[in-house]
Amino acid sequence: MAVSSTSRDPLGPEVSDEAVRSTCDDASQCKRYAVNMGYWKDPYIQHFARHPKERKAPEISRGYYARVEGVTRLVKAFLQKTDRNCQIINLGAGMDTLFWKLKDEDLLPGKYFEIDFPTIATRKIHTIKFPQPGLHPLCHHWRRPPRTPQARGSHEEMRPGPRVNMSDRFGQIMIDNLQSRKCSLIGVEACLSLDTQRQRFLQNGWEGAHAMDMVEVYNALPPEDVKRIEALEFLDEKELLEQLMLHYCLSWATKDAQDLGLLEITL
Ligand SMILES: C[S@@+](CC[C@H](N)C(=O)[O-])C[C@H]1O[C@@H](n2cnc3c(N)ncnc32)[C@H](O)[C@@H]1O
Repeated sequence: MAVSSTSRDPLGPEVSDEAVRSTCDDASQCKRYAVNMGYWKDPYIQHFARHPKERKAPEISRGYYARVEGVTRLVKAFLQKTDRNCQIINLGAGMDTLFWKLKDEDLLPGKYFEIDFPTIATRKIHTIKFPQPGLHPLCHHWRRPPRTPQARGSHEEMRPGPRVNMSDRFGQIMIDNLQSRKCSLIGVEACLSLDTQRQRFLQNGWEGAHAMDMVEVYNALPPEDVKRIEALEFLDEKELLEQLMLHYCLSWATKDAQDLGLLEITL
């Protein structure tokens, strides 16, 4: 868990931890909204996020759909290659519900960790211990000891969301918006392109690295499912969605000492 309050980024303006923590509610409310609209199924999100009062733009829901589906597909491919003899460490997990969705499909890895600020983690634990009655049940033995043998020494790291193409005008507007909320993107200078994202992994000891912008991710999802979600809400400004998605990417890196074929994992 990270512990600090308000810090000054040596490279930029003041960063407020509270503003960073508030992105947890932004994410979970957007997910809850999209789930309610039928973009994907998640019976657990209702425990962790209230249904937002205001309507969310379809661009937001489609963007989250691509992110949730993309990450879930990569995680499942990793679990399959390792035969679940692995561990997942979810950094900045917020109110993410992937743990329960994997559990429902009997796909849990040997160990599953979530890391976030103490206040966020405490809130999540409280919700798990005292779930709202009448909602889809949350598993009580949610952090059971591993059923699988010792984790194999193979790794995959995934980073959904670090931004790319931040040096263009659209990227600058996104940075300004976040900074006005005291939410600096520390390290954004390194997020120039998909190639710099891959190089960051390779220069830090990873053997294989991939990066796809969210337009590519969206286009790699099953066409019948994309058709289904595109029929849910009318989207006027397709260009805006593309612009947004060109500034986010899904990147993942692998080390595969046991030659399990992790390098082949792709969407
Ligand atoms: C945009 S939210 C995403 C939450 C979740 N992964 C999801 O997709 O719903 C980012 C999360 O990262 C957490 N976070 C950001 N910086 C952090 C840090 N330095 N230490 C711990 N958690 C951090 C925030 O508190 C927040 O819950």
